[in-house]
Amino acid sequence: SQFEKTPFDEIGEENVHQLVERFYELVAVHPALAPIFPDDFTETIRKQKQFLTQFLGGPPLYSEEHGHPMLRARHMPFQITEERANAWLACMSQAMADIELQEPIRSQLFERLTYTAHHMVNTKV
Ligand code: HEM
Repeated sequence: SQFEKTPFDEIGEENVHQLVERFYELVAVHPALAPIFPDDFTETIRKQKQFLTQFLGGPPLYSEEHGHPMLRARHMPFQITEERANAWLACMSQAMADIELQEPIRSQLFERLTYTAHHMVNTKV
């Protein structure tokens, strides 16, 4: 209900923003991921902050600006292999550790992202 704390309330906006910024620093230097991302991460970071805010039960910032996320469809222009899904998750796990995101929310969020990342896979090698 409106009286319950969302995961977004629990993590806090500042931590969500720090997590996204740290995550894309790691993505930018990951050999399996960097080649499919733009050189300038400004917009990617901005959109991911909006998306994760709403994914965690905070205000629907992503949908307000971009409409329904349709994440799998939005990833179709990119070859998302199992290897890339695992690389994405490794960067996320490292970013969570680097910003010292606390338990149990860290594992809960990571579990949801693991499911979502594997759902994005659209290319067999
Ligand atoms: C956009 C890769 C998983 C959320 C993108 C883009 C790439 C990408 C290349 C385009 C970046 C840009 O042009 O700015 C991947 C890979 C994944 C993955 C390799 C591995 C499975 C995920 C997951 C989520 C996610 C699990 C959800 C938490 C987003 C969002 C965008 C995006 C919100 C922006 C979409 C838009 O343009 O509005 N991703 N992604 N991605 N990704 Fe992923």
